[in-house]
Amino acid sequence: MPERSREQLGGRRRPWLVVSSLLCTAVAIDGAIAAPECVGGTLRQAADQAGVLVGAAAGSGSIANDALYAETLAAEFSSLTAEGEMKWDHLQREPGVWNFAGADALMAFAEANEMAVRGHTLVWNQRFVDSTPDWVEELTDPTTLRAAMAEHIGMVVGRYAGRVDSWDVVNEPLKTGRSVIWENHFYDVLGIDYIAEAFVLAHAADPSALLFLNEVGISTANARFDAFYQLVVELLEQDVPIHGVGFQGHFFTGVTDPAALEQNLRAFSDLGLVVEITELDIPLVTPDETPENLAIQAQDYANVVSACLAVERCTRVTMWGLTDRHSWINGFLGDGFEPLLLDEEYQPKPAYESFRSTLLVPEPAAPVLRIAGLFVVALMVRRPRSTRPLRL
Ligand code: G3I
Repeated sequence: MPERSREQLGGRRRPWLVVSSLLCTAVAIDGAIAAPECVGGTLRQAADQAGVLVGAAAGSGSIANDALYAETLAAEFSSLTAEGEMKWDHLQREPGVWNFAGADALMAFAEANEMAVRGHTLVWNQRFVDSTPDWVEELTDPTTLRAAMAEHIGMVVGRYAGRVDSWDVVNEPLKTGRSVIWENHFYDVLGIDYIAEAFVLAHAADPSALLFLNEVGISTANARFDAFYQLVVELLEQDVPIHGVGFQGHFFTGVTDPAALEQNLRAFSDLGLVVEITELDIPLVTPDETPENLAIQAQDYANVVSACLAVERCTRVTMWGLTDRHSWINGFLGDGFEPLLLDEEYQPKPAYESFRSTLLVPEPAAPVLRIAGLFVVALMVRRPRSTRPLRL
């Protein structure tokens, strides 16, 4: 398995940044001084300090047509996932007819801005929302379906070999909303081995890429998690080249269980796998943007980030969209659920600040360091400001 540490994927921990960032937090708490320009002021800088990547799902159209979108994406995020443009139904809607324009544009944008790229996704077949084109669902002969899968994976992974660091090889092998059901078209035709076969094909096309099984609804302790965990164990026992597990993380405010999330992340980390939060959004539980609801949302984001930071092999947290204006939730649930870190006007929400400050104050040192930061600020504010400018 390609070994990637947090340092390789996300940067180094830098103690001076931790201290200076704590001072920012402490000053804000103190309230006596206007917020200073803090070191590590963006999410990206904070994530770099924490040694993880922070990503966002994005689209090439928004990057091309909205300068603020492009600028914010590059400033705030160190990793990029194509929200739709690397999916099968986008890249090869008809057999042998390839459309790489959007994916290539995203790749170029990421490289120009020194962002990592997650590949999403090679095989995803659900009854309702998925990315399998109709023509693939019409292939009922195992040999033909295998050949289509081999051609697709080989072409796509091969095109971005050495540039996409990780691929969601199979997305949502469990049926969404059901506890334990594996059926989909690939399963029906090829059996459960379609998963192993997809991983082997991806590994052959780019031996350097980390290969992930990505799933929704595996963040609590239940039969669904157990079944998914068992599948991963079996894949490892068969020497299938699987390197990571993606926890999608489509939550609702107030219902995330951070202890269970951390435990489940750790379960795979303990198997030697990389784990990531791959599609994070936390819509308000009611479409009501009150300060109370936004505060609950902020705490939920802090809980998710803390859970990842607590697990050694948790290397990246990816937001599923840039701002509340761009979220798929608007089409799925309707307006007003405001699931992301930036509002529709690109302004940071309480969730943004809690996400950022959680990255800056990794557990378990946080309480001690926060007190130290407050102590230093207390000393500073006793001096005349003209002789001791607070520029951290
Ligand atoms: O681009 C076409 C446009 O040309 C057409 O006019 C329009 C008409 O409906 O559709 C547009 O395509 C839509 C596409 O998003 C781009 O907006 C598709 O219909 C729509 O199905 C697609 O939805 C995406 C969905 O995956 C299916 O690919 C969502 O944006 C995307 O957020 C969602 O992401 C998934 C993850 O991949 C897997 N986990 C769940 C997550 C949320 O469903």
